[in-house]
Amino acid sequence: MKPLKKRLLTPGPTMVPERVLEALSRPTLYHRSPEFKEIFLDTRERLRRLFKTEGEVLILTSSGTGAMEAAVANLFKPGDSAVVVAGGKFGQRWEELCRAFGVKPITVEVEWGKSVSVEEIGKILTTTPDVKGVLVQICETSTGTIHDVKAIGKITKELPDCLLIADGITAYGVYDIPTDDWHIDVAITGSQKALMTPPGLAVISLNEKAVNRLNDNPTAYYFNLKKELKQQPKGQTAYTTATNLVIALNEALKMIEEEGLENVAKRHEMLAKATRAGVKALGLELLSENPANGVTAVISPEGINGQDVVKIARETFGITIAGGQEHLKGKIFRLSHMGYVDIFDILTGLEVTEFALKKLGYNRFNFGDSVKAAMEVYEKETL
Ligand SMILES: Cc1ncc(COP(=O)(O)O)c(C=O)c1O
Repeated sequence: MKPLKKRLLTPGPTMVPERVLEALSRPTLYHRSPEFKEIFLDTRERLRRLFKTEGEVLILTSSGTGAMEAAVANLFKPGDSAVVVAGGKFGQRWEELCRAFGVKPITVEVEWGKSVSVEEIGKILTTTPDVKGVLVQICETSTGTIHDVKAIGKITKELPDCLLIADGITAYGVYDIPTDDWHIDVAITGSQKALMTPPGLAVISLNEKAVNRLNDNPTAYYFNLKKELKQQPKGQTAYTTATNLVIALNEALKMIEEEGLENVAKRHEMLAKATRAGVKALGLELLSENPANGVTAVISPEGINGQDVVKIARETFGITIAGGQEHLKGKIFRLSHMGYVDIFDILTGLEVTEFALKKLGYNRFNFGDSVKAAMEVYEKETL
């Protein structure tokens, strides 16, 4: 039997609500028109509310990595050094970006699945002169792990020349993150994760400390944040933005505000707890010691390749879950519960996981065990 529907349970791109798809399909607007300008300014304001920042928020036409690159190219000069938290694929990306732009990374290696030691960062920052920034993920998606960015912010806020730059690509819209209160100087996200919009837009926030550090001549041309900063408060962008995507993002942000950010965060917490309970009911273990609310990384049982679980889910049921990356390929699989996701999506993901595991010869459970455990969490968390 061929799968009838396609469902995305990957940590991005995620499923896009019908309302957002409808907004996406409206006739394309000219990016300098008064009509679009109004929508653009409204989107920026909604993003500032999402980020809980009084600082600047810029919308970039790129995937999330574009905003990471923009941060490195605009806030550092070649020869600067920065602490990089490398606890997974995306932490490594910070390191690669630093090297690409001549910034010296002081890498804090973290075992994949563990959170960084904040004490270690503190020690480096007190013993190494002239560190210009700390680059970290709020959620390291490759391992489904949270880093304690709030605690790092308590250290960097005392250092006038050191920026805290947080990749919140799978954290904003999953958690209610008070960017300013946590002293995050630069925060980044992307449209295709918890913001329930197709891929193609990145968002970067900058507080005063960060704005004051922006290079006049960054080591980038397209991602010139000073240029964007001149334009975007007027509802303009330096170059042609993806107008349909901005309109779609505006609709998605309206949905988040209608549900209420606090409720959105509670929903993600409930879904994450239900997913964790579900996989544990199958006798499986989580990879992360500090699991995130946007994605759950599950260790494949002995002798079972996680990529096969992913393949069976996709080919038999049209459900896309994610595998592991780099050295975790085959060792884990990841179930996402980020964005436009409800309990029924989770139950589906769990049941499909059961089916795939049984097919691959892992039999230490009965059909429905994970669903039962997830529903028990749902009942406890919501009724
Ligand atoms: C934490 C994190 N950082 C960076 C990225 C890269 O974003 P993009 O693929 O949008 O460039 C991702 C994508 O999954 C991510 O999860």
